[in-house]
Amino acid sequence: MTRHEMLSPAAELHANVSVPFESARAMPKSVYTSPAFLALEQKHIFGREWLCAGRAETLPNPGDYLTMEIAGEPVIVLRDRAGEIRAMSNVCRHRMSTLLEGRGNVRSIVCPYHAWTYNLDGSLRGAPAMGRNEAFCKDQITLPSVRCEVWLGWIMVTLNPDLPSPQETLKDVESLVGYLDMSSYVETFQEQFRWATNWKVLAENFMESYHLPVCHEGTIGGSVDLNQMTCPEGFASFNYHWIVKNDTIPLSLAHPSNTTLTGDQRRITWLLSIYPSLLITLTPGYFWYLSLTPDGPGHVNVLYGGGMSADWIADPSSGDHIAALRALLADVNDEDKGCTEKVYRGLCSDLGAPGPLSHLERPNFEFAQYIASRVPAQAT
Ligand code: FES
Ligand SMILES: [Fe+2]
Repeated sequence: MTRHEMLSPAAELHANVSVPFESARAMPKSVYTSPAFLALEQKHIFGREWLCAGRAETLPNPGDYLTMEIAGEPVIVLRDRAGEIRAMSNVCRHRMSTLLEGRGNVRSIVCPYHAWTYNLDGSLRGAPAMGRNEAFCKDQITLPSVRCEVWLGWIMVTLNPDLPSPQETLKDVESLVGYLDMSSYVETFQEQFRWATNWKVLAENFMESYHLPVCHEGTIGGSVDLNQMTCPEGFASFNYHWIVKNDTIPLSLAHPSNTTLTGDQRRITWLLSIYPSLLITLTPGYFWYLSLTPDGPGHVNVLYGGGMSADWIADPSSGDHIAALRALLADVNDEDKGCTEKVYRGLCSDLGAPGPLSHLERPNFEFAQYIASRVPAQAT
């Protein structure tokens, strides 16, 4: 038995990241394939960090809601009667059925089992045939609330009562890309899908653009040049890199009517990986994002959406641009699905082993360090 076969996945990961970036390797296979390591990630990462539920502009009216899971916990995010976005448990206070599914609009939350009915603030409005139970007190029954804040248009939720706000932990995002005013971008499409890969493989695929010319040869590969990519050191709560784009895809550039962006600001694409699982591509023209939820070691549920900057939305041909963007990104996504599912198959092989990282994969190494910083080396 080799030394590494005796280490737990967490210990292997800590050993993997304890080298300088100049001699870094991809993460060990076990951190992707081990169910026990995923359980540690759910506990130490997904159960404790800010996660993204999508864009606030997709819930414009009172009663608009979406549902999600945080580390296995069913959660409702909705806009309440006061116009605030709030989050709460999606589990009925009677015999614990889940309440809402998918997305939609409700006047109140009605349990599908026995019709206990909740107001949009989570308080119980009514329950049939409960008057004879002396322990039942309608006024004391409320769906537990979950922390929820809107940050630059992103709905952020967490089960952790002690985390600083996203405004605080992600203030460096604003210093870097504040000139693009993400809160004014408008989501124009959104869908969910499930891919056969580990959530970290997809996150890592996003955080390096090394694969763009090859994996994306059929779509955006021609608009990038490996020599035009900059991968600086990241921050504790996110990593990033940027690409100076050529003119191949005008939608990724500042709109011709825009007079405030100057020089490279008009053509820089930012790739922001907000730990643990919000991945944002931000250009002066469009944005798209992935918010990842692990589903076992070998699958990931993905909330995928995108849209345009205010300038492009105001363009008389915005409908055409939106359709063109969506078609382009759908093809890009298909290419990423192929690459990330192939990586997971390789990770599950006996002969596979992690190789050295390019200087263009600095964010991947920082991501591995982040995971290691959350999951203790002795955890099993
Ligand atoms: S479980 Fe919800 S009303 Fe019975
Ligand atoms: Fe990609």
